[in-house]
Amino acid sequence: MRRTADSPEAGPPVSPWWQDAVFYQVYVRSFADSDGDGVGDLEGIRSRLGYLELLGVDALWLTPFFRSPMADHGYDVADPRDVDPLFGDLAAFDRLVADTHNHGMKITIDLVPNHTSDQHPWFQEALRAGPGSRERERYHFRDGLGPDGSTPPNNWTSVFGGPAWTRVRDGQWYLHLFAPQQPDLHWEHPDVRADLVQTLRFWLDRGVDGFRIDVAHGMAKPPGLPDMDPRAVTIMAGSNAPDFVDLRFDNDEVHDIHRLIRKVLDDYPGTMAVGEIWVDQEERFAAYVRPDELHLGFNFKLVEAEFDADSVRRAIDRSLAAVESTGSPATWTLSNHDVVRHVTRYGGGELGTRRARAMALVELALPGTTYIYNGEELGLPNVDLPDWALQDPTWERSGHTQRGRDGCRVPLPWEGEIPSYGFSRAGAAWLPMPPQWGALTVEKQLEDPESMLSLYRHALEIRKTAQGFGGDELEWYGAPPGCFAFRRKGGGLICALNTSAASVPLPPGEILLSSGPMDGNQLPPETSVWLV
Ligand code: NOJ
Repeated sequence: MRRTADSPEAGPPVSPWWQDAVFYQVYVRSFADSDGDGVGDLEGIRSRLGYLELLGVDALWLTPFFRSPMADHGYDVADPRDVDPLFGDLAAFDRLVADTHNHGMKITIDLVPNHTSDQHPWFQEALRAGPGSRERERYHFRDGLGPDGSTPPNNWTSVFGGPAWTRVRDGQWYLHLFAPQQPDLHWEHPDVRADLVQTLRFWLDRGVDGFRIDVAHGMAKPPGLPDMDPRAVTIMAGSNAPDFVDLRFDNDEVHDIHRLIRKVLDDYPGTMAVGEIWVDQEERFAAYVRPDELHLGFNFKLVEAEFDADSVRRAIDRSLAAVESTGSPATWTLSNHDVVRHVTRYGGGELGTRRARAMALVELALPGTTYIYNGEELGLPNVDLPDWALQDPTWERSGHTQRGRDGCRVPLPWEGEIPSYGFSRAGAAWLPMPPQWGALTVEKQLEDPESMLSLYRHALEIRKTAQGFGGDELEWYGAPPGCFAFRRKGGGLICALNTSAASVPLPPGEILLSSGPMDGNQLPPETSVWLV
């Protein structure tokens, strides 16, 4: 077991607590509802801390719960230093921080620096003050092109579809890389920087252990906001079209902002920041986790990999290469609130579940920090929601061609046989829950040693207590086609994965845990195993 700064009694150098932590992402709207309005809230989370401790995670990441008109479910922030009444209040937040710590877990929260809500007082002032005013300088307001200014100032598109510009009554346009209700801030303005520092200190003083930085590759914009090559445009931005430069993201000036964030965090020892960084190239990614910038960078290579040994191995190698010389640990994510849940990505049904089990053991065997998205420990699939239920701005912005992310955000089933399965005392949750989820509740899965939840609990327990997980490096073994096996160099744990159609011989060692039944001495298809 690695010694952390919290248990520094004796021995060699102490690693920060996040170095090999397992974070649990709480999508606040969908975790647990305490007040019966069908939407999750802070007291709901507090009431389920016992579950999270039992699961065995080290830290929580809460998605935004700040004051917001909820155009993008809280990623449109009207006041970054207050709790939205939908989720509770500051007193509820303080209770949650205290209780999370009492349960032995850390608590980290989202920070949304790229944009505000259009209802933020700054944006409202800017609208009132008119063209050329100082108030407009905190955002990117521009005149349009063409004789009557009716063409947007450049050709950028919004990540949610449509142009990245919206015209206001007086004829000027403002930039929003996401929804029109999320105007982008102008990061060269001193007020914008000062306000971020104030927000960081506000939550740090209340006891949070860190932040997840939304769109950490955004914020800085290229001088003059030139047109971009439309081929560079990708959905979650910046990742799938490596041959083209997406001028909207990953501009060098963004690193100054991360240095600013780091300086504040350095005043609060033991706190950390992880950036959401959709940047494809390893060296560009590495820049975000330099020693004076963020502690961790979210890496989405596993999210993008198919269930295929070569594809997963490439994702692992590239993720490790990206942080190799930085001193920052790799991070691993299979799902989050922006992507199709991995049971579904891997084929859905029994097949998708078997594969998800196999990948859970691969992910939890890797050196570094792991992020579990709430509900993945229950093996929840993506939900095919009816059109009327869709709320993600992507659905409207794309002219009903892209269904958006609601399918991975359906609330968690806790107990019982009918929706909302103990999520809320209201019958209806904010997104409809499928009638078949009675079999997937926490209550059912806790009793079943073969459930996905039992697999996660078991794996997390072993990861905490067994010796094999030391060291930051891997060595790869030779393996049959469609399979891989790696060994943690420092600790000795071996993890083998079979994505081929036939059973294969196991590497030598004693089995600690397997994701499914073994085939005698052989590793069956769609299965992974831990050995020492
Ligand atoms: C990334 C967040 O994960 C996503 O949910 C949000 O819509 C955008 N950033 C905009 O804030």
